[in-house]
Amino acid sequence: MTKKRQLLVSSMVIVVFIVVVSIWYVLQKEDPKQIEETTEASQASYDETWRPQFHYTPAKNWMNDPNGMVYYKGKYHLFYQHNPKGDQFGNMSWGHAVSEDLIHWKELDVAMEPDENGMIFSGSVVVDEDNTSGLFQGDEGGLIAYYTSAGDVQDQRLAYSTDEGKTWTKYEGNPIVPNPGIKDFRDPVVMWHEDSEKWIMLLVAGDKVMFYGSDNMVDWSYLSEFGSDHGAHGGVWETPELFELPVDGNQDQKKWVLQVDMNPGSIAGGSGGQYFIGDFDGKEFKLDRGQTETKWTDYGKDFYATQAFNNMDKVIWIAWMSNWQYAADIPTSPWRGAMSLPREVSLTTNDRGEMLLTQQPVKELDDLRGEKLIEMENRTLDGSMSLPEFDERTYEIVATFRVDEADEFGFKVAQGEGEETIVGYDDQNNYLFTDRNNSGVTDFHPEFGGVFRAPMEAMDGYTIKLHIYVDESSVEVFGNNGQKVLTNQIFPSEGSDDLSIYSYGGNVTIESLEVYDLESMHE
Ligand code: FRU
Repeated sequence: MTKKRQLLVSSMVIVVFIVVVSIWYVLQKEDPKQIEETTEASQASYDETWRPQFHYTPAKNWMNDPNGMVYYKGKYHLFYQHNPKGDQFGNMSWGHAVSEDLIHWKELDVAMEPDENGMIFSGSVVVDEDNTSGLFQGDEGGLIAYYTSAGDVQDQRLAYSTDEGKTWTKYEGNPIVPNPGIKDFRDPVVMWHEDSEKWIMLLVAGDKVMFYGSDNMVDWSYLSEFGSDHGAHGGVWETPELFELPVDGNQDQKKWVLQVDMNPGSIAGGSGGQYFIGDFDGKEFKLDRGQTETKWTDYGKDFYATQAFNNMDKVIWIAWMSNWQYAADIPTSPWRGAMSLPREVSLTTNDRGEMLLTQQPVKELDDLRGEKLIEMENRTLDGSMSLPEFDERTYEIVATFRVDEADEFGFKVAQGEGEETIVGYDDQNNYLFTDRNNSGVTDFHPEFGGVFRAPMEAMDGYTIKLHIYVDESSVEVFGNNGQKVLTNQIFPSEGSDDLSIYSYGGNVTIESLEVYDLESMHE
C-alpha cells in the first residue's frame, strides 16, 4: 500500500469511528425523559411497608382513576389519573402501564400532561383500526383518547397516538364536545355500537349521564340523557361505563349494564359505584322495569371509578382502590393509590330470580399461586381455630361453608397483637361483611374504620362461598361466586400476619378450604 493510500484508509477509519460514536451519543440522548422515568420505576424497591404485591401501584406519587383501558396489539394498557409531581391530587396527568397477562404491569412514561387548557381528567381510549377519524396516515389506524380537559370549565377533548399510547397528539379542533354550561361535565367513555353502527360517547353531567353519537369519531351530536329519576343521587355522578352482556351465559339473551360512580353518598360512605340493567338502542338507555332499589357495585369502601378494557370480547374491569373521603390521607409512601384486581364481570340470575352483576377475579391470577398453605375438607368448626405457624401477608382463600347452627362465621385475617380484619358471614341477618375497625393504622381519618355489609343469602339455602385476596394493604372479598363483593384497604402493623377461622353461636361446616401463598408481581 502506498503511503497516500494508507493515509486515506486510516482517515476513513477515523471518520467512520466518529460517525458511529456520534450516532450512539445522539440515540442515547434522544429521549432523556424515557431514560429518567424508566429508571424511576425500575429503581423503586416495591418492598416498602404496605406496598401491594399483586395490585398495580405507580412507583411513586399520587394515583386515582383507571383511564383509557384498552387491549391493543397483545398488550393491556392501563392509563390512570396521576400526579407525577407529588403524592396529593394535582397536576392531573395520564400515567401509563402495560401488561401482557393482566397481572405483571410495567410502568411507562407519563402519557399526557396538563396543558394551557387545564388538567387531563379521566377518559377512555379506543382503537381506530381503519382510520375512520382521518387522523392517521392512509389506512394505518391508531389509538384515540377521549379525555376531559379540566380548566376553568370542563370539556371533552381528543388526542391520538401512533406509538401504542406512549405519546399523544392533541387534536387541533378541540374541544370536540364543548361545555354546555354544566359545572361537572366530564369522564367521556367511547364505544362502538354494533347495531346502530355508530360510535357512542357517554359522560357525566352533574348527577346524570349524557349520551352522544358520532360516525367519524370526531364530530359528536347529543342523543339523550339518563338518570334524573333513577338511582342514588347523594353526590356527583362520575366515571360512567356501558356494556352489553349475556345473561347466565346465554348469547340469545343479552342485557346492557350502565355503571356510574358517585361521590359522596355511596353505600359504605363516601365514594362508590351503582349499576343499572336495561337496554341501549344506540340512542337511549332504558332501565328494566322494577328496578327501584339501588344496585351497588361493591359494598366495601375502596372500589371507585371502575373502567373496563376496550377492544375485548369480555368485560374485565379495574377500579381505583380508595375513597375520596380519605384518599389523600392514607399512610403509604412514596406512592399513594392502588388499583383493584382485574375482575371479569357477568350477569347472572340468583336463586330468587334477580338479575345481578357478578364480579370474579380474572383466571390469570392463578398464576401467582405459590405453595398451598392449607387444605381442609368436611370439618366441623365450633368456636375459633387459629392456623398454627401461619405468617403470610399475601395470600388467597377459597372456602365453601355449609351453614349449620352458627350465627356468624368467617375468617380473621392480618391478625396480630390486638389487630384483626374480620371477613364474616352473619347468618342471623344474612349479610357478608368486612370489619376493619381494628385492622391496624386507622386513625389517619375518622371515616376509615368501620364495618361494611353486603346483603347476601346462602346459595341453595345453605351454601356460603368466600373467595378472599389479602395483599399487604387490602382485602378483596368475593361472596357466592362474586354475587356480592367487598373491597377494602387495611394498614396492619408489621407482624400482623396470622389467620384464623371462627364461628359464633354454634357449628359451621367447612366443606372445603384452600389457602394459597401468592407470589409478588414485582419478582
Ligand atoms: C373520579 C374523578 C373524575 C375525574 C377524576 C379527576 O374519581 O373525580 O370524575 O375525571 O377523578 O382526577
